[in-house]
Amino acid sequence: MTERAEVFEVGPRDGLQNEKALISTAQKVELVDHLSDCGFRRIEVASFVSPKWVPQMADGGEVLVQISRRDDCSYAALTPNLRGFDGAVLAKADEIAIFASASEGFSQANINCSIAESVKRFEEVVAAAKAVNLPVRGYISCVTDCPFDGPTPAPNVASLAGRLRDLGCYEISLGDTIGQATPQSITAMLNAVLSEMDAAHLAGHYHDTGGRALDNIRASLDLGVRVFDASVGGLGGCPYAPGASGNVASEAVVELLCGAGFETGIDLDALYRVAEFAKTLRS
Ligand code: HMG
Ligand code: MG
Repeated sequence: MTERAEVFEVGPRDGLQNEKALISTAQKVELVDHLSDCGFRRIEVASFVSPKWVPQMADGGEVLVQISRRDDCSYAALTPNLRGFDGAVLAKADEIAIFASASEGFSQANINCSIAESVKRFEEVVAAAKAVNLPVRGYISCVTDCPFDGPTPAPNVASLAGRLRDLGCYEISLGDTIGQATPQSITAMLNAVLSEMDAAHLAGHYHDTGGRALDNIRASLDLGVRVFDASVGGLGGCPYAPGASGNVASEAVVELLCGAGFETGIDLDALYRVAEFAKTLRS
């Protein structure tokens, strides 16, 4: 039987959050609906963060309410705190994600608090999610390099991943936020994290600034990782990570996985058409 590997589509959130010109709610809904038709099992649709920090995501609730949902797809939202969690529940997100950083500099720049403070905040969010049976995914940013603090020690990533797992995250997504990782640094980081948990609980979230995201995915596949976050058309970046470019393009990841003999469940022709549409949304 062919082994499965999954692309977790994050374009509507991680991709669009960085676009300068405001994209209409209707266009965002159209993007998500097209992506649903490609066969993704998980799509990150929105983030419930401060609109002062990320104005582009201010209509996340509307987008979640207006999309056409498929039963076999989970529609996810990022929630930094309880206020965001309440918004996600109101808009009927199927799962939420908390997002921490392995480096102090990025934690301060992105969510205005230390790593320890963020984990305390997330404890409340995860407890609230558990009370309503909502699955929680955990992100860790800057797993190999930070735009403020330089290289990230791999043991720091491993201990934070363990902490998020202990809180109750069903999967930890490991972010090369500024796309500076190499197969060597990804391998070293993953080996450290794998001493804490099984590869089945991990996802790779690689931005493609350095053009090495696909190589980093190959290195991750060698270590047993089977879930990769990606953004249709390579949309995106992070507004609080200077120099971060978009996530690796979903269509390129699907091609890589198919070429390596994995089953993804994605209609690649349909995905290429959505990538063309996604490019029309760019500023
Ligand atoms: P703060 O300023 O420290 O917090 O921001 P605050 O509690 O003082 O709130 C400031 C204002 O925001 C207040 O409004 C709050 O009510 C409001 P004011 O009184 O000034 O009018 N506020 C909210 N509004 C809507 N929804 C909320 C919310 N919370 C507070 N949930 C905060 C702290 C976390 C809110 C802020 O820093 C923030 O929103 N940061 C989010 C930044 C962000 O979204 N970054 C991008 C996503 S992470 C990413 O891309 C990385 C990832 O892709 C992985 C990778 O690539 O590495 C996941
Ligand atoms: Mg990202």
